[in-house]
Amino acid sequence: MEADQAYREAVKHGRYSEHVRSLRGKYDHVRLLWEDMITGYYLRPHLEKLVENRKEGVEGLRIYDLGCGTGDGYDLLTKLPGSTKLAQTDTRLIPQELLEHYKGVDLNIDLLREGENLFGHYDHVNFCKGDFSNGLPVEEDELPYDLYFTSYGTFSHCTDEELEKLFIDIARHARDGSIVLGDWVGRYSYEWQNLWTNNTREIPYIDYKINYLYPEDERDKVEVSSFPLRLMSPTEVSGILESASEKTGVELEILRFFDRSLFVGRHIETGTYNDNPQPIRLMVNSLHESGLRTYLPDMMVDYRPRKGFEWQNRMLRDLQECWNALVNYTIDLLEHFDDPRKDILPGPPYTEFIALQRAYEVMRQTIEISKLLYGDVRADLIEAQLGFALRSLEMNMQRGMGLGHGLIGVIRVNK
Ligand SMILES: C[S@@+](CC[C@H](N)C(=O)[O-])C[C@H]1O[C@@H](n2cnc3c(N)ncnc32)[C@H](O)[C@@H]1O
Repeated sequence: MEADQAYREAVKHGRYSEHVRSLRGKYDHVRLLWEDMITGYYLRPHLEKLVENRKEGVEGLRIYDLGCGTGDGYDLLTKLPGSTKLAQTDTRLIPQELLEHYKGVDLNIDLLREGENLFGHYDHVNFCKGDFSNGLPVEEDELPYDLYFTSYGTFSHCTDEELEKLFIDIARHARDGSIVLGDWVGRYSYEWQNLWTNNTREIPYIDYKINYLYPEDERDKVEVSSFPLRLMSPTEVSGILESASEKTGVELEILRFFDRSLFVGRHIETGTYNDNPQPIRLMVNSLHESGLRTYLPDMMVDYRPRKGFEWQNRMLRDLQECWNALVNYTIDLLEHFDDPRKDILPGPPYTEFIALQRAYEVMRQTIEISKLLYGDVRADLIEAQLGFALRSLEMNMQRGMGLGHGLIGVIRVNK
């Protein structure tokens, strides 16, 4: 299979399976501090309910991770904070003793082996090779799962027919109230603006390359295999779910969609599918890198609208406007901070965007308070805070319409 070959190459390269948080590679800061956190944020209320149900019953929580890679779902879900209370230390949403079973299935043996190394020592963890293009890989008497989980565009590996079959199988296998977290690649991500189409009858695919692992000067010289991924919109997902519901008599209720990574997706800087590449992901990674200062003017997003895509242009322009305004205000605050003649930081410019008003306030207060601290407060505190404020902008302004690298659907099985 093309996908398997491409993932093998990525694993061989090293930066795909290496669990090291850094400026580049699969587990860069954006993945761990933005993407995983955003997924966790939207999943949390539903997972909380599942956890509560299990606490009351005799059985523990059961999780199925489809296209699990190295057990990324296990890592993400077991680290999720359950409480926002600051005084508590251990706030994990899923207590270890409550997790009865985690099953991770993937086609790629190398990734599964790495998953075994990382998490295989837990009795409740089980990795196995399986192919979900022919339906849900389960044994005849296998018990239902509380959560059927996917991450980072995994469902986009399926054709629409394969996806419908998979949802039919999940609908039949799941229990009443089970949650499915479906993760696709967004149809209208700015990263692949050249591939956008308004033709609703056309089923768009991207010939996806994992070439973002390579530094800029090597990227065009290396031969990287590609594989097709289905570019998905919420309307198209809804259609497939309706059809699976009709065929099974089981309701697959969409609780919400959200977009993830609108300007920081992996391909924003490769230029593989867009003529206007920008190093925004690397810049955001730099914001979160301790001890490293970031040249903030390079963080500006230069959104070039594409004719004929009104609502996509409007939404991405709004986000661009807020993003750039926040970076500019931060630059302004930092300059004032350094000027001995000015002891009062400037108030934020007027904006009608509530998300931006809040983000301005976060940056003003952070810089104000940093006077009292010692160390490289710019590299270690202010820049990290700017990263989180930009993340909040993205989260508050997205509408789950397929405008991000990831389009994620939270779906409940009602039986
Ligand atoms: C986008 S990656 C996501 C990996 C991991 N879940 C993560 O969060 O990084 C998709 C994964 O699905 C696996 N995959 C693709 N097609 C598959 C299939 N038909 N059956 C099982 N796994 C598949 C790939 O090997 C790959 O590990």
